[in-house]
Amino acid sequence: MHWIQVGDYDEMSELAASIFEQQLLRKPDSTLGLATGGSPQGFYVSLVKRYINGGFSFKKVNTFNLDEYIGLGPDDETSYHHYMKRSFFDFVDIPVSQQHLPNGLADDLLLECQLYEQAIEESGWIDLQLLGIGVNGHIGFNEPGTAFQSKTQVIDLTEETRNKNSKYFSSEAEVPAQAITMGLRTIMKAKQIILLAFGEEKAGAIARLQAGTVTEDFPASILHHHPNVKVLYGK
Ligand code: PGA
Repeated sequence: MHWIQVGDYDEMSELAASIFEQQLLRKPDSTLGLATGGSPQGFYVSLVKRYINGGFSFKKVNTFNLDEYIGLGPDDETSYHHYMKRSFFDFVDIPVSQQHLPNGLADDLLLECQLYEQAIEESGWIDLQLLGIGVNGHIGFNEPGTAFQSKTQVIDLTEETRNKNSKYFSSEAEVPAQAITMGLRTIMKAKQIILLAFGEEKAGAIARLQAGTVTEDFPASILHHHPNVKVLYGK
C-alpha cells in the first residue's frame, strides 16, 4: 500500500484527477470504477476541468459505480445515479450506454446483482477504481462483517451509515435501509485502486487501516492484500 499524505482537500482531488487523466492517456478504453459521496466531489470538478482543457476523451471508457440505494432511481435527487449525472456524466463525453450503476429499482434484485457483476467481468474487470472509506471501514457499501469473497450484492445499511448519510435526505427515516454494492472480491479485482480520505472524521479509520490488521470486521483492511493501492489522506 502506498500512503500519500496531502496538505488539503484540493490537493487530494487534483492528485486523484491527475492519476485518472494519466490512465486515460495511457489506455483510452479503460474501465473506470467510480464512487459517490463527499470525498470525490472535488475530484469530479478537477477531472471535468481537465477534460474541458482538452487532451483526452472518455468516448471509449466504461464506468461502473460502486453502489446505489435500493428504491431510488436516476430522477431521484438523492440517488447516486443523480449525483453522477450532475457531478460528472452531464459534462463529459461518455456514451450513456457505457455508464453503469446498479439499478436500485430492479424488480429482481438478485438478478440485477448477478448481471452487474457479469458486466464488470465482461469489461475485463476495472482498470482504475476510486474509493472512499466509511468511518466504520466500509468500502462501497460493504459494511463490517461482509465476506472478503463477496460479489455484487444487496446489503443492509448499518444505523451508523444511515445516520451519516442522512445529511443528504430530509430525515434519517428517508435514507433507504438497503443498497446494492459491488462486493469486496469485485473491488479487489481492480488493477489499481485510489482511496480518498480527508478530514478529522476519517482519521480514526485511516489510523486503523494503517495499523494493518486484516479482518472482515474492518472491510477496507482487505486492501492490504492488493498489489496496487494508493491512499490519499490528510486532515
Ligand atoms: P464520504 O463517504 O465520501 O461521503 O465521506 C465515504 C464512504 O462512506 O464510503
